[in-house]
Amino acid sequence: MTRPASETSPAAREVAAEAIHVENLHKNFGTLQVLKGVSLSARDGDVVAVIGGSGSGKSTLLRCINCLENPTSGIIRVNGEEIRLRADGYGNTVPADRKQIERIRSRLGMVFQSFNLWSHMTLIENVIEVPVHVLGLKRERAIAEAEKLLSRVGLLEKRDTYPAFLSGGQQQRGAIARALAVQPRVMLFDEPTSALDPELVGEVLGVIGDLAREGRTMILVTHEMKFARDVATHVVFLHEGRLEEEGPPEAIFGSPRSERLQQFIRRVG
Ligand SMILES: Nc1ncnc2c1ncn2[C@@H]1O[C@H](COP(=O)(O)OP(=O)(O)OP(=O)(O)O)[C@@H](O)[C@H]1O
Ligand SMILES: [Mg+2]
Repeated sequence: MTRPASETSPAAREVAAEAIHVENLHKNFGTLQVLKGVSLSARDGDVVAVIGGSGSGKSTLLRCINCLENPTSGIIRVNGEEIRLRADGYGNTVPADRKQIERIRSRLGMVFQSFNLWSHMTLIENVIEVPVHVLGLKRERAIAEAEKLLSRVGLLEKRDTYPAFLSGGQQQRGAIARALAVQPRVMLFDEPTSALDPELVGEVLGVIGDLAREGRTMILVTHEMKFARDVATHVVFLHEGRLEEEGPPEAIFGSPRSERLQQFIRRVG
């Protein structure tokens, strides 16, 4: 397709700077409609916080962006590249191009709720695994980079430790270092502190907050409302698979408009 002359228009430049673009995303599991037409975008430097009650579809949304779930319909662009999907004949889609999925996923940093370091590898082996074996970085170079990342999350002295011997907070900081090792344009966090003992939450939020203040683009599913208010540039409230309200944190937390968001904030805030 030839590019229209409007490519240089302000609107086109906005699209070019979009790291994540989700448009009218639907996801059904059988007869259960989990996402019912969600649209959102994250431009470079945005910290988008996704909030909402349990079962509202937050994880499913992130998993669709990361190609861990196939949407029923809708458009997802990552780094300007649209994920190519084809109908699976059962009302859902499957990836049309596996290589594209691998490429897209290898440049997204994802940190889940439960600790997801590989248990049979030391911390530093965890961090260099994808750079060396997927992205083709030389081992020495990957180790040097990994040491920098581990020192950044305060774990250099644990480089040769296996995950079982790390605290939950250390494991989660290790998972963040591992996610950063692919030099992701966007980091996706799914409730990264919800499985932690309360006294360990602060150290992990500290690392994520530093990344946010450095201007790293991220989509962050969190139930830490104070944290979302502090670090987010944009907040999205999901309710039963729909984007009920969105806006800057001051507006979402300070003067929520919809009754549902008001209720949610009263309940969790
Ligand atoms: N693989 C699956 N198969 C069937 N149903 C699923 C699947 N994954 C999620 N669901 C359902 O989709 C709905 C949304 O789940 P999702 O995990 O996205 O919610 P959430 O907003 O992340 O909730 P929480 O805050 O509890 O993590 C739930 O009703 C869940 O049971
Ligand atoms: Mg979830």
